[in-house]
Amino acid sequence: MSKAIYLTKIDGKPGQVYYPLSVQTQAKPTPQGRELLIKLTAASLNHRDVFLRQHLYPGVTFDVPLGADGVGMVVAAGPEVIDPQRWQGKRVILNPGIGWESSPDGPEDPKGYRIMGGTKLYNKGTLQEYVTIEESEVEEAPEHLSDAEAAALPLTGLTGWRALVVKAGDKNSSKGAAILVTGIGGGVALMVLRFAVARGVNVYVTSSSEEKIKRAVELGAKAGVNYKEEGWEKKLLSLLPPGKAAFDAIIDGAGGDAVEKAVKLLKVGCDLSLSACNK
Ligand SMILES: NC(=O)c1ccc[n+]([C@@H]2O[C@H](COP(=O)([O-])OP(=O)(O)OC[C@H]3O[C@@H](n4cnc5c(N)ncnc54)[C@H](OP(=O)(O)O)[C@@H]3O)[C@@H](O)[C@H]2O)c1
Repeated sequence: MSKAIYLTKIDGKPGQVYYPLSVQTQAKPTPQGRELLIKLTAASLNHRDVFLRQHLYPGVTFDVPLGADGVGMVVAAGPEVIDPQRWQGKRVILNPGIGWESSPDGPEDPKGYRIMGGTKLYNKGTLQEYVTIEESEVEEAPEHLSDAEAAALPLTGLTGWRALVVKAGDKNSSKGAAILVTGIGGGVALMVLRFAVARGVNVYVTSSSEEKIKRAVELGAKAGVNYKEEGWEKKLLSLLPPGKAAFDAIIDGAGGDAVEKAVKLLKVGCDLSLSACNK
């Protein structure tokens, strides 16, 4: 048998309701075709799980387990898996979504990018003991990551990578570039910070919290400002390194007036729709 966590339907309007969780016991799935059976060892939560509980996320359903992010061990393989021995006993990270493989322009699938967990768009979720998934949808987990760390990587990591490297472009995410990451308390923002620092980018951040700015600097950011303070955008420009008059790219997940103010900090020739500059 396999336990799984679902949203439970109660009455309430989107934004006012907070769906309770229920644990359900169901039959352990059998892998079909090219599917692998994964025994999950860790799953992580994402802000979308809160939005789902509040009925503020597209496609909410009560029939699919929650959870987009997870890691686990391969314990069985379907009859058409090409090389079952390759996978047997391997610790794998699950791809959190389908429909978007590699195009820099966005999802190749006309149905769009469909993320696991709690919606009718994709019938998988990671808040369960066992899940079956196509072998093409898993990657071996890096050995240096614990289960909890590996489980925290997929959705925010993929989103952050796509924003920083795929969308902002190689030039703006390489050594010497200067980028602004707004709202560094956010899950995606933190991933962008880690990737950008590892690539030698000068990273600047904004936050509502001095504590989060301090932590970001400990993680390698050059500096940060509090977006609650008047004139934060001007202060940011004064912090740029010598020879830089503006940011090469801005990775923004907050929207609102942050975009209006931050766009004035970008170097000339930037594409606002990408929140990034490719020239
Ligand atoms: N999470 C994912 O895996 C995922 C996947 C695909 C797309 N996205 C999109 O990526 C964006 C970020 O998602 P997330 O899950 O990382 O968000 P999150 O964890 O909920 O973080 C949001 C952050 O936004 C910051 N913020 C709020 N108001 C702000 C303002 N006025 N100016 C600047 N920053 C402000 C806050 O930063 P401080 O705490 O530092 O103040 C907050 O922590 C969203 O648009 C989401 O739809 C997320």
